[in-house]
Amino acid sequence: MNTEIIKIDIDNIDKEKIAHCAEVIRRGGLVCFPTETVYGLGASAFNSEAVNNIYKAKGRPADNPLIVHISDYDMLELVTDCDGQQREILNKLADKFWPGPLTLIAHRDDAVPSNVSCGLDTVGIRFPSHKIAQALIEAAGVPIAAPSANLSGKPSPTRAAHVIEDMMGRVDIIIDGGNCDVGVESTVFDIAGEQMSILRPGAVTLEQISSVVATADELDWMKPHGNDTEKPRSPGLKYRHYAPNATVQICDGNGENVAEYIKNEIINAKKQGKSCGVLATDESICYYKEVDVVVLSLGSLANSLQQASNLFHCLRRFDDLGVDVVFAEALPRGGAGDAVMNRLYRAAGGNIIKV
Ligand code: TXA
Ligand code: MG
Repeated sequence: MNTEIIKIDIDNIDKEKIAHCAEVIRRGGLVCFPTETVYGLGASAFNSEAVNNIYKAKGRPADNPLIVHISDYDMLELVTDCDGQQREILNKLADKFWPGPLTLIAHRDDAVPSNVSCGLDTVGIRFPSHKIAQALIEAAGVPIAAPSANLSGKPSPTRAAHVIEDMMGRVDIIIDGGNCDVGVESTVFDIAGEQMSILRPGAVTLEQISSVVATADELDWMKPHGNDTEKPRSPGLKYRHYAPNATVQICDGNGENVAEYIKNEIINAKKQGKSCGVLATDESICYYKEVDVVVLSLGSLANSLQQASNLFHCLRRFDDLGVDVVFAEALPRGGAGDAVMNRLYRAAGGNIIKV
């Protein structure tokens, strides 16, 4: 497939270019586009064949449902079919957090083909705040189903270059709209279940959601989910995810102890002929000065939002540099820090060691 790369300036959105991309969506094509979280791989949410092509382009398992992106509240009506109570909660959350990095799981309207949700009677909906995403959905005139625009299992793309690396030749268009600010995917909050829970942490935190839904809780993502006998609430949880080619080992403990431990591990790994990398912070990077390995900083230890916006790019950098093993310092949890640790934990396949 021939992939067109179209550069669009978020501060001066070219309507003709958007109209062209929207036309491709309307006729059943695939368009990668930026959002405030990560890039999405979009198709018309009402075209089941186009939706099938999303799964194929990503190599995505057929039991991991997609998020439907909307650009106004009429579209919300079209894709959801909620009872009065669910509608009330949805409206309250939408008022407070949309447009923005929150996906809500609500009851699906039959207008949405079942392969969008892998046969579930619910649908994930999100109203992104990114101006290019909004313009594209609006011009298409249909909601856009879109997972993150990475090959299945790879770190999500936060820059156009990441999308080009994974999706060239697999989609009709890649919009280059610059870097994504948030850098980790949206918070997924399930309002369709009896217990309303965060299924995937993101920039919208449990604390923030609790101000609207007092009973909200968060799934314990450190527990293994979705073995063969159990149907997971969030199908995405059962897959190793966000993973670079390198093996990732998370090291949890006090700053200097962790650095000492990692430096020892590097010596051992090097003896086995492995090339190593360290994922550190601005505060800890000095500990690795004398070590001859790739050391990348996620930003300040105190700034989870900064870490979020750098994480996937750093993971991809290690691959570009041919690193075999990445030693990652554990990061503070709580707030957006939870989202960062969740992605790191899954990139590591749960491989975390207490130092
Ligand atoms: O920020 C984001 O959410 C990005 C941008 C492109 O909007 N999209 C994204 O999509 O991260 P994806 O497909 O990579 O992740 C969607 C997550 C998966 O974990 C999936 O299992 C969950 O949302 N999900 C979607 N629909 C669901 C449903 N009906 N019930 C439970 N989980 C659902
Ligand atoms: Mg994804």
